[in-house]
Amino acid sequence: MEDRHQLILAPIRGITDSIYRNAIARSFGGIDYAMAPYLVTKNTGEINARQFNDLNPAVNDLRVIGQILTKDADQFLLLANDMVGIGVKEVNLNMGCPYPMVADRTKGSGLLPHPERVRPLLEKIVKNCPCHFSVKLRLGRDDQNEVLEILPILKDLGIDDVTIHPRLGRQIYKGVVNLDGFEACLEHLTTPPTYNGDIHTAQDLIDLKRKFPTITKWMIGRGCLKNPALFSILKGTSYGADEYKQKLEEMHKELCVGYLAQENAKSTFLGKMRGHWPYLAASFENEAKILKKIKKARSIDHYFDATQWIFNQ
Ligand SMILES: Cc1cc2nc3c(=O)[nH]c(=O)nc-3n(C[C@H](O)[C@H](O)[C@H](O)COP(=O)(O)O)c2cc1C
Repeated sequence: MEDRHQLILAPIRGITDSIYRNAIARSFGGIDYAMAPYLVTKNTGEINARQFNDLNPAVNDLRVIGQILTKDADQFLLLANDMVGIGVKEVNLNMGCPYPMVADRTKGSGLLPHPERVRPLLEKIVKNCPCHFSVKLRLGRDDQNEVLEILPILKDLGIDDVTIHPRLGRQIYKGVVNLDGFEACLEHLTTPPTYNGDIHTAQDLIDLKRKFPTITKWMIGRGCLKNPALFSILKGTSYGADEYKQKLEEMHKELCVGYLAQENAKSTFLGKMRGHWPYLAASFENEAKILKKIKKARSIDHYFDATQWIFNQ
């Protein structure tokens, strides 16, 4: 892949934490940088310490963008300042989260039908943000024209770092990406946005590059979760079946070591690892059997028996 293109690991809450990000970077590689899953703000100023500390550059091999989910500029700025305090250099506002619990509260994609709320929110953030600021959004919550009211606001405020996932909030992650809707955004932005959505194979990226020749930044989430080699494959590496399996086992070991070293590991380890397998199992032929084995593992020892069986097949 030509150097001017950059590949970014998407934020996937509950999965792409520092341990996952480091595990990929140390095994397969290929990621240029990552956006962390969102942190929520609370009126009390309280934050989730584990999620916050996960952004610390000292525990991250990759460059990481912090992400915040809020509709309140002051709370965004408070948390952004805290993030900068631990060494984070870039923060992103989540304007794409589709879940009704979030969107019904005018957060995430719930902001998109309300340009009159978005303008003052972004104005205050841009004026006071202590570091580089970017936004990640969808085409709309209910209608793909919503974004066309938002993009002029971003342009007016000089926000030139925008990631677009071309679905509607209502779709959650279903249906296909709306590439025409993405294309319609381009003329409203001075700097080409980062494209995000449904890149699962090298061919997917080839097709998208052909369709959008001005785009040079590509964000990938679920494609990497299912095939952790994807980033490195997109950068030109190829793997034989045995080599892939060996690297995957290495990556899995990194994940286990990382999660076992965490506080309360005994109670959180199984839950964490179970979260990865619905995606990772796609790398194996007998996906259903693998998922059953993982589900049945009721202790850390049983989990390791199960994964030994999986990797020794
Ligand atoms: C389980 C799950 C959690 C997600 N968490 C976040 C998040 O914290 N912040 C965010 O901006 N997007 C989040 N997303 C959206 C992804 O970052 C990405 O936009 C979406 O999955 C489409 O890209 P993909 O097709 O490459 O996966 C999440 C998606 C999923 C499926």
